[in-house]
Amino acid sequence: MIRKIIHSIVAIPVVYDLAQYVLGGRVVVPKFQKQCEQITFSDGWIVDYAGGTGRARTFFKQISKYLLLDIDMVKIKGFRKKYPNDLVCHADVTCPPITPESADLVMAQSLMHHLTDEQMNAMFDEIPRILKPGGMLLICEPLANSSRYWGRLLWRYDRGSFPKPLDSLLAKVQENHTIIHQETFTVLHDYLIVTATRND
Ligand SMILES: C[S@@+](CC[C@H](N)C(=O)[O-])C[C@H]1O[C@@H](n2cnc3c(N)ncnc32)[C@H](O)[C@@H]1O
Repeated sequence: MIRKIIHSIVAIPVVYDLAQYVLGGRVVVPKFQKQCEQITFSDGWIVDYAGGTGRARTFFKQISKYLLLDIDMVKIKGFRKKYPNDLVCHADVTCPPITPESADLVMAQSLMHHLTDEQMNAMFDEIPRILKPGGMLLICEPLANSSRYWGRLLWRYDRGSFPKPLDSLLAKVQENHTIIHQETFTVLHDYLIVTATRND
């Protein structure tokens, strides 16, 4: 019951953005932003997997080809209000309706804990399909951290019920990509930020 109430309140886009900031975003976002800003390409497509309300959009001001993909229409509407000129796709990351080798960057911020292992495997099978040769993958994710009280408490109320351990997430990335940057840190949860390029 409490979980349901929390979820429906946090689903409101403006509340969602505020909650993300308070629960770790103030530390996580600048680190993620730094990695976004280090990725450079001239005129390519960014696909923001499960982009929600588009929190990461501002880190790519110079890029005009930005596609946000999400399954939640409430979040999509929140994004649309802020960025009426960007493309949005109401779809599942396990079967994105995206042309092969069309994306220069696929990024996924705070997505994996919403996916079962089977869904995550399907998603990781699709990413190298839609990335161009040499295309990049950028992931920022809170991890399973059973030793931390605050982390365990937050996972109890989080909408995502499948937090992933560090090793299994890195192993999935490395199946088809080469890691070029990786960092872990703690703000209530343990976090991973990883940048990788598609193996050709
Ligand atoms: C914690 S939010 C993160 C949103 C955004 N990346 C951010 O950092 O603000 C998780 C997002 O994943 C989306 N999501 C969950 N499962 C999904 C799926 N199978 N396909 C597409 N989006 C999904 C949810 O709708 C939600 O917007």
